Amino acid sequence: IQTNQQEPAQEAVQSGSAKTPALIAREVQRRRTFGIISHPDAGKTTLTEKLLLFSGAIQMAGTVKARKSARHATSDWMEIEKQRGISVASSVMQFEFRDHIINLLDTPGHQDFSEDTYRVLTAVDSALMVIDAAKGVEAQTIKLLDVCRMRNTPIVTFMNKMDRETRDPLELLDELESVLKIQCAPVTWPIGMGKNFRGVYHLLRDEVLLFRAGEESANQTFEVVKGIDNPKLQEMFPLEMDQLRMEVELVHGASHPFNLEDFLAGIQTPVFFGSAINNFGVREILSALVDWAPPPRGRDATVRSVEPTEQPFSGFVFKIQANMDPAHRDRIAFLRVCSGRFERGMKVKHLRLGREVKVSSVVTFMASSREQVEEAYAGDIIGLPNHGNMQIGDSFSEGEMLQFTGIPYFAPDFFRQVRIRNPLKIKQLHKGLQQLGEEGAVQVFKPVQGGELVLGAVGVLQFEVVASRLMNEYGVDAVFEGTSISSARWVSSDDKKALADFEAALGHNVAYDAAGNLAYLATSGVNLRLTQERWPKLMFHATREHA
Ligand code: G4P
Repeated sequence: IQTNQQEPAQEAVQSGSAKTPALIAREVQRRRTFGIISHPDAGKTTLTEKLLLFSGAIQMAGTVKARKSARHATSDWMEIEKQRGISVASSVMQFEFRDHIINLLDTPGHQDFSEDTYRVLTAVDSALMVIDAAKGVEAQTIKLLDVCRMRNTPIVTFMNKMDRETRDPLELLDELESVLKIQCAPVTWPIGMGKNFRGVYHLLRDEVLLFRAGEESANQTFEVVKGIDNPKLQEMFPLEMDQLRMEVELVHGASHPFNLEDFLAGIQTPVFFGSAINNFGVREILSALVDWAPPPRGRDATVRSVEPTEQPFSGFVFKIQANMDPAHRDRIAFLRVCSGRFERGMKVKHLRLGREVKVSSVVTFMASSREQVEEAYAGDIIGLPNHGNMQIGDSFSEGEMLQFTGIPYFAPDFFRQVRIRNPLKIKQLHKGLQQLGEEGAVQVFKPVQGGELVLGAVGVLQFEVVASRLMNEYGVDAVFEGTSISSARWVSSDDKKALADFEAALGHNVAYDAAGNLAYLATSGVNLRLTQERWPKLMFHATREHA
């Protein structure tokens, strides 16, 4: 089995001599930063919990789940508000496994589905895709995988719930390949399913991992039997083994052998079968992440690419979350470290504002609690408390002008018009929407003609959140109404006159977003297509980068 792991250059590291390049290289090499992508109910929460359990980061099953049900029990924003501290803490989890530091970033799904989900994926180096083996590929998986593909993020696949009646495993692989357009390399193969689920056969190690149901214990081990032709297996499962041998032959013939390079290029995904709730297959997933998933890699900035092992610190903000106390408008900016070594108390430059900030209070995210961070390296996420001066996409460095790229805004799928009950509050409304727009909670469009603002979101819960925050934090009682708009595209062109003509001709459907970018608000797919045809000198974009 190939691995991409180089043994950390331990001997070169001198204890105490803090900033040596060797220390940074070693720390980078042992980091893995990934997110879990899945359709709601596939088992993301369960798997997250088991990953933490295996790493010893939590002792008891049920912890993550309790948080989730607390979060989902209600979609009432006041309740969500109460839970915010918890969701801040659980949105990044750091834990250790086999001398590696693993950062697991939560990609909220379900009702929480929002632009955050997408942007979190810009901060990871790999992703774990969880699929409910009874259902196969589902809508949200497709969307999230498309986002991963924008950066060729390597993906490990976990086929979950094998303890239930599932679909035929070969058919599942077929579906993955045809719908998600990704090569599958099965690493483990299930023996039976549902009540007859016996375990998995590890294709690379030629051994069978025997399934045993059981949920709670942290150090659960499963019996391993070496060799597919082992008489012991034949004796235990006379019926299943013949079937397995046949399937394995088919799999060897029909699927791709695992290839580390193709995985790292995002072309191929290693596939594991298991049952998260029974801890089964979870250790294999953790090992795959440690052995195969990449450590932090170079990141593109406007001027050059930045290597994670460079000594000066740099990083970018990919998510902003309002903090617990709405009265203070505190926010936490989630920054992904891209290079160097971050130390508490150090001075860093906030490049958009051209301002030095001394970072004395930062938040790190351990699985069990929210703690003060002392140091961080590429791949780590740190939380910077601020009062609204930090925005998504902002870059920080020790001075060099490195604006990181690839932090997208996505064209919204849902639109609402905003009206307020009390016209005297118009100023507060605009201020609130401006700030919430900057925070990335919602996208705000101001049409060139006509006064009403249009809000855009990629998930409908965003509107609920915005309405309730406008009320609580800005004292604005806003009403959101449906609009005839069905999609939006950012518009650009080298031809200034064409842009001006476009703006003048279609003023009601042309708008500026919070960052001052021109957008076209289309009323239907046909309308968008016709407009594109009529204005050939303009380019229409479904995503835009941070301004
Ligand atoms: P999500 O975060 O992706 O939305 O999924 P979550 O982990 O909450 O799992 C969704 C449901 O699937 C849960 O059941 C969970 O217990 C179940 N589940 C997860 N992994 C497995 C598995 O390996 N086998 C089986 N059989 N079920 C699994 P629920 O009924 O919604 O919740 P609960 O009543 O169990 O709490």
